[in-house]
Amino acid sequence: MATSSNLKQLLTLALTLLAVATKSSTCTPSPTRVKAIYYLDNPTFPPSSIDTSLFTHIFYAFVVPNNITYKLEIQQQQGSSSKATSFTTFTNTCKTKPSPITTLISIGGANSNSSLFAFIASNSTARATFINSSIEVARAYGFNGIDFDWEFPQTAKEMNDLGDLFLQWRNAISDEAISTRRPPLLLTAAVYFAAGLFLSGEPRMYPVDSINKNLDWINVMSYDLHGAWNNVTGAPSGMFDPRSNVSVVSGLFSWIQSGLLPEKLVMGMPLYGKTWKLQDPGKHGVGAPSVGPGPGVDGGMAYFQVLNFNKQTGTKVVHDKQTGSVYSYNESYWIGYEDLFTVSIKIGFAQALKLRGYFFWVAGLDTSDWEISTQASKAWKLV
Ligand SMILES: *[C@@H]1O[C@H](CO)[C@@H](O)[C@H](O)[C@H]1NC(C)=O
Ligand SMILES: *[C@@H]1O[C@H](CO)[C@@H](O)[C@H](O)[C@H]1NC(C)=O
Ligand SMILES: *[C@@H]1O[C@H](CO)[C@@H](O)[C@H](O)[C@H]1NC(C)=O
Ligand SMILES: *[C@@H]1O[C@H](CO)[C@@H](O)[C@H](O)[C@H]1NC(C)=O
Ligand SMILES: *[C@@H]1O[C@H](CO)[C@@H](O)[C@H](O)[C@H]1NC(C)=O
Ligand SMILES: *[C@@H]1O[C@H](CO)[C@@H](O)[C@H](O)[C@H]1NC(C)=O
Ligand SMILES: *[C@@H]1O[C@H](CO)[C@@H](O)[C@H](O)[C@H]1NC(C)=O
Repeated sequence: MATSSNLKQLLTLALTLLAVATKSSTCTPSPTRVKAIYYLDNPTFPPSSIDTSLFTHIFYAFVVPNNITYKLEIQQQQGSSSKATSFTTFTNTCKTKPSPITTLISIGGANSNSSLFAFIASNSTARATFINSSIEVARAYGFNGIDFDWEFPQTAKEMNDLGDLFLQWRNAISDEAISTRRPPLLLTAAVYFAAGLFLSGEPRMYPVDSINKNLDWINVMSYDLHGAWNNVTGAPSGMFDPRSNVSVVSGLFSWIQSGLLPEKLVMGMPLYGKTWKLQDPGKHGVGAPSVGPGPGVDGGMAYFQVLNFNKQTGTKVVHDKQTGSVYSYNESYWIGYEDLFTVSIKIGFAQALKLRGYFFWVAGLDTSDWEISTQASKAWKLV
């Protein structure tokens, strides 16, 4: 367990930042806060299982455009017409919950075709077709907004094209809202943990001006920062990293330094841990040598499964001050994850930076009584 002095230092940091933020606050009304979660279409976890009282927004993941027509051909998506049924069930369930929740349809995802998005973004005719289809589908199935998850633009030109896409999208959404006299659809995007991609390929910056002008906000994927591919253990969503700038805080600072308005920033947190197989049972700190992923699908383990791992005799849980993260290990395996404490600290930090809110990836990985999600929602309310 963490020593009380570790905890105290982290809390002091969070509270100091909070005090600074409160002093500089003005009387302008803040935009609606965001407490969001993604939902992966999944028969074993139907939309009715979601405790909507804990969230303000929910993202339905995912849908992808057809690679020839550039439209969201809902009838032809995998699982055929069941996709349409799944949308309708989702939006109707979310609307009729005791706590209704705003729904967005998320386009793309980590496994979607990045070159297809590159082509669509580069060509104004293809952009128009794609945008038109996204608005038609969002309206037809009762979503309140559209989220774009392109992982990731590969070049500076593709980043520029992404900015053009956002502008054209915003104009189409505004025109549609005026002509139908309905509130405009929300437009958001899921983005890299930092404002620039710098770890591989051509260095490239997101189109920050276009994001400020055209998007309601961005979901910053402040996670998956370290994994078994590093060959050493590391905090997958650590606040700090003494060895590099690959950390949640560096990433969020890079967005703010690049000129992105804090109210456009929503911080992502994982409801899962990443696992490593230790090379030497005697070396089990952050940065310990490892030999590939540990248990779980691709070295990923749901939070509720991490709790089961932690219950085994011989497992130790450590709150690490240097990375602002929690990990647990036994003689064979090491898991970096988020717990009630790290989530509370992150939310204090996000509020100190005046961010718009937070989101989780993904529904179904918390405990059955939504322990982490509840803690996050309570922590944000304290101020
Ligand atoms: C379009 O996608 C389908 C399904 O993934 C694939 O089989 C096909 O080769 C793709 N066609 C083009 C032109 O990219
Ligand atoms: C991805 O999209 C590109 C550009 O449209 C296309 O050439 C390629 O075949 C697509 N790949 C798949 C797997 O569909
Ligand atoms: C843009 O896409 C359209 C089809 O959507 C195609 O007819 C046109 O040739 C493309 N333009 C360029 C410059 O690739
Ligand atoms: C999409 O295109 C169709 C056909 O041109 C048009 O009737 C419709 O109004 C467009 N929808 C939006 C949201 O722009
Ligand atoms: C991890 O180890 C593999 C196999 O030895 C090696 O190919 C790879 O470059 C290493 N990765 C890093 C980040 O050091
Ligand atoms: C991290 O450092 C590299 C190299 O100095 C720089 O290119 C990159 O933008 C920095 N990233 C962040 C998130 O600070
Ligand atoms: C470590 O945890 C794994 C996964 O739960 C378990 O199979 C293994 O027996 C544990 N090892 C030790 C030495 O406790």
